[in-house]
Amino acid sequence: MATETANETARNIGPVILLGPPGAGKGTQSKQIVGRYGIPQISTGDLLRDHIARRTELGLAADGIMARGELVPDDLMYGIVTTRLREPDCRRGYVLDGFPRTAAQAGWLDAFLQKTVFDNGSESADRCPPVVIQLLVDYTQLLLRLTGRRSCPTCGRLYNIHSQPPLVDELCDVDGSKLVIRDDDREEVISGRLAAYETQTTPVASYYREQRRLVAVNADRPMDEVTAQIFGVIDRHCEECEEQSSPARVPAAERRS
Ligand code: AP5
Repeated sequence: MATETANETARNIGPVILLGPPGAGKGTQSKQIVGRYGIPQISTGDLLRDHIARRTELGLAADGIMARGELVPDDLMYGIVTTRLREPDCRRGYVLDGFPRTAAQAGWLDAFLQKTVFDNGSESADRCPPVVIQLLVDYTQLLLRLTGRRSCPTCGRLYNIHSQPPLVDELCDVDGSKLVIRDDDREEVISGRLAAYETQTTPVASYYREQRRLVAVNADRPMDEVTAQIFGVIDRHCEECEEQSSPARVPAAERRS
């Protein structure tokens, strides 16, 4: 198992896009992908919350918008995503958690990735096209997941009072910090977030489906089962990329033997 993980952390993965409504498990599954493949999680929600905490100009602009459960304007998103994707830890790939979230963002990302390949030449993992994984979850289950979510303000670990409670009520198992509820997980905001997903993010799924890049996963299953499905999708995607980029086009299965 350790050898298997070591192999995965040496591999070029390329961009992995996790698409799904609030509460689908994008953050939870991103952390599993980070652990197996050694690529960073880029959560635009976390980046925005960090700007809010630091009271930057972007944070001040985003604060009220996020509190209402609406989407931050596309133009404000492109700057933070560009800066983050240019960091060296993204070279082998990265998990995008919460981006793209509008059809315009998806078009922008395609243009950005094409330009990156052009700028970096054949050395870049961005030659591997994005794999887009859509997490499908029933509406009632989403509500339970969002209203039950708690997180540790110190280590970031996620809990759920219904499906994954801490050992001691309201305290983090790892460091004992008092768990917190996210501001936008209040019931009156949740419905707005789910509505924004329906109207603005559903077209993103259509965009990638038309490009034959969308792979749907049943995320209404226990966490480990969802993780296994996602690893299967990423492994198959990597093998296809390796086959296409290998000069002799030797099947990936033969090269590994
Ligand atoms: P963001 O932070 O991205 O939030 P979100 O998309 O609403 O997603 P969540 O973080 O709520 O859910 P998740 O899918 O990560 O689920 P999780 O793993 O935590 O965005 C927040 C805001 O920022 C947006 O509303 C918007 O304003 C702004 N924003 C961000 N990106 C933007 C962009 N690109 N453009 C414009 N605006 C943007 O899991 C949820 C709970 O379920 C947890 O308690 C977990 O333990 C539990 N759980 C997970 N999986 C399972 C399972 N299989 N079974 C049972 N329980 C599970």
